[in-house]
Amino acid sequence: MAHYTPGPVSRSLVRALAVAAVLASAAARAAGDKVGPETCRACHPSAFDAWHASPHARALESLPERSRKDPRCLSCHAPDLDDGLSGVSCESCHGPGRMYAARYVMRDPELSRAVGLADPGEKRCLACHTDSTPSLEKFDYARKLPLIAHGREPAAEPPRPAHRQGEAKPPPVPARPAHPAGR
Ligand code: HEC
Ligand code: HEC
Ligand code: HEC
Ligand code: HEC
Repeated sequence: MAHYTPGPVSRSLVRALAVAAVLASAAARAAGDKVGPETCRACHPSAFDAWHASPHARALESLPERSRKDPRCLSCHAPDLDDGLSGVSCESCHGPGRMYAARYVMRDPELSRAVGLADPGEKRCLACHTDSTPSLEKFDYARKLPLIAHGREPAAEPPRPAHRQGEAKPPPVPARPAHPAGR
């Protein structure tokens, strides 16, 4: 009898089951589930460093003391403060990470996006960088984006197991070809 080797069909079936499992547990969670920049840091250390050195990381502290609880200011200077996150955080731009921050999900660009990873672009910036903000000139995406450049290097192996505490066990990792280099 021939040995069974997974072909393209069963591989995509395995993947479909993994997607279904992730989506099912995503649906069971609150939409606003954020993990915080320290979690992202484990695998994106230099993106973290670049962000940490940027004005976005300090956007709460740069408010005058009396405004740090003012919802009119927090909507842009610390939009995720209710989730315990200060300033303009990773997930303020990339979307809540609870479901996509697991490595086996992150390695799959489609799956990551299906469970909440956003592709921030000019529109996302303009939600806060409006005409009413204290800037001398109109927000110019092409000129401002390089000022917050981060995240282009490949993700690191985390130094310790991440995403273990208080989380449902992820479905088994389907065997997949390595992610193409250069991402
Ligand atoms: C357990 C490790 C791990 C954690 C934690 C993690 N990532 Fe990732 N991330 C990866 C891997 C692996 C990739 C795949 C690409 C690569 O190797 O750089 C990736 C890719 C990405 C991408 C590019 C996706 C694409 O397809 O263009 C973004 C954006 C990203 N991560 C943001 C985040 C954010 C924001 C957080 C925290 C909420 C986070 N990641 C947490 C491992 C991780
Ligand atoms: C619509 C989004 C938005 C709101 C609401 C908002 N800000 Fe800002 N704020 C910004 C942006 C964007 C910048 C950066 C502008 C620039 O430098 O191009 C900024 C910059 C600032 C700065 C300068 C920070 C620095 O490092 O120099 C201060 C101070 C400030 N805002 C105070 C406030 C206060 C106080 C409130 C509430 C009354 C407030 N902002 C409400 C978006 C906002
Ligand atoms: C102000 C919004 C904003 C914040 C805050 C932010 N990012 Fe990003 N991030 C972006 C944008 C926009 C891009 C795409 C840049 C481009 O197109 O070159 C990006 C790209 C990335 C990439 C690379 C994706 C790719 O195409 O390879 C990673 C990884 C990433 N971010 C992780 C993080 C992490 C981790 C944090 C927090 C420590 C963070 N980001 C904070 C807006 C943000
Ligand atoms: C959730 C609101 C928010 C979003 C989304 C956002 N920013 Fe900001 N940004 C701010 C605030 C607030 C400041 C002022 C921080 C401070 O100094 O207090 C700021 C400051 C900056 C600065 C430094 C000041 C300047 O204009 O030179 C740059 C650069 C910047 N943002 C780029 C971007 C880019 C590019 C995007 C989109 C990819 C983006 N921001 C998305 C709120 C936001």
